[in-house]
Amino acid sequence: MNYLEIRKRYNQASTEGYAIGAFNFSTVELANAIFLAAVKLKSPVLMCTSSGEMEHVGPEVARGIVNGLNRVHPDVAILHLDHGKKFEHIVAAIDAGYDSVHCDGSALPYKENVRLTKKCVQYAHKHGKWIEGELGHVGGSSTLHKDQSYSDVEMIMTEPDEARRFVQETGVNSLAINIGNVHGVWNGIPHIDFKRLKEIQKATRIPLVLHGGSGIPMGQIKKALSFGIDKININTEIRVAYSESIRNSLKDKNMFIPTSYMPLAVKAVQKVVETKIKMFGSTNKLRKL
Ligand code: 13P
Repeated sequence: MNYLEIRKRYNQASTEGYAIGAFNFSTVELANAIFLAAVKLKSPVLMCTSSGEMEHVGPEVARGIVNGLNRVHPDVAILHLDHGKKFEHIVAAIDAGYDSVHCDGSALPYKENVRLTKKCVQYAHKHGKWIEGELGHVGGSSTLHKDQSYSDVEMIMTEPDEARRFVQETGVNSLAINIGNVHGVWNGIPHIDFKRLKEIQKATRIPLVLHGGSGIPMGQIKKALSFGIDKININTEIRVAYSESIRNSLKDKNMFIPTSYMPLAVKAVQKVVETKIKMFGSTNKLRKL
């Protein structure tokens, strides 16, 4: 999918008040589950690999999987690199034909983040690709942190004025922000700072991205949609559904044929993705490009 088509997708999400779900995959089954949910609910989606997931699947193979799925139902999925922390990750994804990339320099000091992001933006735009930047660090990791609460993780919140400058200086097309969101599922619920979100939206006027979508309750998601969030990332809840299903199946010692137990894992993940698509309001939003 090209840059202009992706822009159209974000514009539509922004004017109609929903968010496009960005779901991670690292196996064919996960990719299938995400795609099946999107097709069933007629929703656009971003299918993502982190740089580690990209390395595991292989960037060309990830491209091949999403091409194959999109051939059956055209224009459903955008292939996106999630959290590319190095220029080489961005290059590897773009050279393999990813549609969109996320340059994450958020753990770096401001100036270094700008330097890395600008370099990535140049490369992405030269190749006609969409690029997301990140300012304010979204901490945690996409796993279960059941014994820790949200307040245990170090948070660097996004400052609205700095976000305005960052967007002007780098030329990113969308921006991942920290407004109290954290990767992973933690004890308790996160507290999203909506005042800050409103200010960042006013200061940047570009599509805003909420990472760490697992564990954020419906009420906070709905409010975030109305305040300018256009993309929400989900990984942990997908990983949990997938591994719990397989773990359960394999308790039965006679269960050793992947085509017997994998369809159950696909169903479990599809259910999670469908729930998120409904929460994000993107059901029936798939339009021909
Ligand atoms: P969760 O793991 O909290 O769903 O966050 C996913 C994410 O933001 C991927 O970049």
